[in-house]
Amino acid sequence: MKLFDVYPLFDVEIERGVACRTYDTNGVEYLDLYGGHAVISVGHSHPYFVKRLTQQAEKLLFYSNSVINRLQQELADKLGKLSGYDDYSLFLVNSGAEANENALKLASFHNGRKKVLAFRKSFHGRTSASVRVTDNPSIVAPINADMEVVFAPWNDLAAAQAILEQGDISSVIIEGIQGVGGIQIPDPEFLKGLERVCAQTGTVLILDEIQSGYGRSGKFFAHQHAGIRPGLITVAKGMGNGYPIGAVLISPEFKASYGLLGTTFGGNHLACVAGIAVLDIMKNEQLMENTTTVGNYLLTELKKLPGIREVRGQGLMIGIEFDQPVKEIRRRLLMEEKVFTGASGTTIIRLLPPLCLTLADADLFMSRFKKVLESQPA
Ligand SMILES: Cc1ncc(COP(=O)(O)O)c(C=O)c1O
Repeated sequence: MKLFDVYPLFDVEIERGVACRTYDTNGVEYLDLYGGHAVISVGHSHPYFVKRLTQQAEKLLFYSNSVINRLQQELADKLGKLSGYDDYSLFLVNSGAEANENALKLASFHNGRKKVLAFRKSFHGRTSASVRVTDNPSIVAPINADMEVVFAPWNDLAAAQAILEQGDISSVIIEGIQGVGGIQIPDPEFLKGLERVCAQTGTVLILDEIQSGYGRSGKFFAHQHAGIRPGLITVAKGMGNGYPIGAVLISPEFKASYGLLGTTFGGNHLACVAGIAVLDIMKNEQLMENTTTVGNYLLTELKKLPGIREVRGQGLMIGIEFDQPVKEIRRRLLMEEKVFTGASGTTIIRLLPPLCLTLADADLFMSRFKKVLESQPA
């Protein structure tokens, strides 16, 4: 059987990782400024993470959600404390799209409405409701197209307010920082306004923190820079440092009932241990503080470089926008300088490194990046 060919691949096979470095099958070392798409949060194969997962694997990998699993409560307690959302409830799933799917459903169960407000350039995943609220018609299949969604312009409170005041919107879904859309940071006043108008119109505010959350912006959630508290928050990616796990954080106004939501694999023993280990490491190694320090340093250094249209970001979620396509710069960074980066669209380089990136790693990246830019034909 061959693989269904949906991913364009670089000719590199990674077989090992340590902190912010990965190694290919020839033993060549790469600096990881992408974390496998914002997934590696506490670092590749962190020894404590590996130890906790190994110990759990030797005991029990999985049992269903029909029996007590104390690890779920331990994860919820630690997440509540570190994120500042102790009073919320946790529903555990397996991926980002699934987290958004459940959040959109929960909002609709809650207020009985069907329509969703999303934003231009949004990305929320590839399952049915999640892909429909993603602003990319080319990945929405006909089977998903009937769900009612309105896309409003980014950072335009008046436009969103006019739509919400019609009174038929179930939820507003917005990324803490748009990732796929090109590292677009919402204005704090825009988020505060959305929170206010949602409260006035009985609309649920859903913050998709799948890419921007789990410390990546320097605070646990990017929306905490604006001081808002959404009804629902979705997480995945960095939550498991490579082990698939996602979740919805649910405000106390939502009432649970048996059978309302469910999943086979969500909240399994191994996933919970991965989630617990990530939170322990984030706390013990003060990774949010590190993210702020190293992120600010990178932003400052990148802004000094000539020939770049704009550098924007928060913490270790950084976009470097050029006037021209970045494909060749990224290819040379990887193949010649052994640095992994990501892209948004054709003209933006996206940096999403593990949160343990050091200042020395940042300097190494800067010197390799400058080398590529300086020898790049105009
Ligand atoms: C903001 C955001 N939401 C949702 C998703 C979907 O997550 P997953 O690929 O785990 O389904 C992504 C993935 O890139 C994302 O960046």
